[in-house]
Amino acid sequence: MNEAVQTSSPFTPRVFSGIQPSGNLHLGNYLGALKRFVDMQSDDMQTLYCMVDMHAITVWQNPEDLRRATRELCAGFIAAGLDPNKSILFNQSQVAEHAQLAWVFNCVARMGWMQRMTQWKDKAGKNQQNASLGLFAYPALMAADILIYHATHVPVGEDQKQHLELTRDIAIKFNHDYGVDHFPITEPVIEGAATRVMSLRDGSKKMSKSDPSDASRINMTDDADTIAKKIRKAKTDPDALPSEAKGLEERPEARNLVNIYAALADTTVDAVLADVGGKQFSEFKPMLSELAVEKLAPISTEMARLMQGQDEIDRILASGATRAREIAAPILKKTYEIVGMVGA
Ligand code: TYM
Repeated sequence: MNEAVQTSSPFTPRVFSGIQPSGNLHLGNYLGALKRFVDMQSDDMQTLYCMVDMHAITVWQNPEDLRRATRELCAGFIAAGLDPNKSILFNQSQVAEHAQLAWVFNCVARMGWMQRMTQWKDKAGKNQQNASLGLFAYPALMAADILIYHATHVPVGEDQKQHLELTRDIAIKFNHDYGVDHFPITEPVIEGAATRVMSLRDGSKKMSKSDPSDASRINMTDDADTIAKKIRKAKTDPDALPSEAKGLEERPEARNLVNIYAALADTTVDAVLADVGGKQFSEFKPMLSELAVEKLAPISTEMARLMQGQDEIDRILASGATRAREIAAPILKKTYEIVGMVGA
């Protein structure tokens, strides 16, 4: 079994994670999440990967764009190496149990917990009164996504750590309030060299789909020329690369590019620096471009091919949803029984 899921918990190891179908899939999503999803796919453990369309609508989405982005994300999952026969791939809204459990969790989680979430503060900004109620309750739905499957392990990027801590708090409070051991205390799996990929234009900002500058990110649909151009223009400093990770501490842009290289090459930052220490960026950037194109171009080509067969994508999502519901329904039923709902 995968080392990341060694556990002493009495719950059977099961992996769940999700990505929002809002805007483009970018290199941060790929290295921080999707590539890790593929690494965790295994024959002897259930893995569920979800396109969280209900999370996406916590901020306005044009319906046509949402439909397209959901299918494109599914194409991205498969093109990156997820096998619909091994992993359960589906979109969240097709499994109503997520929303049903989220309501229960809305009644378990406290307003103060939600108010502390940095993603809420960032996304709602100064105008919290005008943000949707769904955006505020977002982490309770996320906890429901995970716990409706009794998932024990959740691969994510660094920015989701706080939400996963809240998921644990919700499970602990539910178990405590009802005097049960019903929900597992989920382990975040935040691993690899690129758990926080930064903007190519500003090493202090996360690479994100909401950055107005397209040059700040590499999209999974970018072609080879665009990838090379963005890396060529990426912000750096004038110094040569150090030969040890310590030398990157005060150099956010340099560190970001080395992290990206290490994650794409499936190696460590130390191993990369042992190789490229002493080189100038004029030499390192073309190496990074070549590696990025080698790894990403086949994914974008395959995504484009899969997008030609929309019916097949819809069939995969529907069949994934059926399999997901088989796991979710008995867990929801048990939860309703615990809570005291008649007819559960
Ligand atoms: P989302 O859609 O914003 O991002 C999807 C995944 O990509 C990771 N990620 C990054 N990793 C490294 N560097 C970056 N710059 C970067 N940007 C994004 C995120 O950490 C995430 O793993 N709330 C989640 C979606 C979600 C979910 C869940 C995740 C809903 N329910 C249940 C896990 C389990 C989100 O907004 O991800």
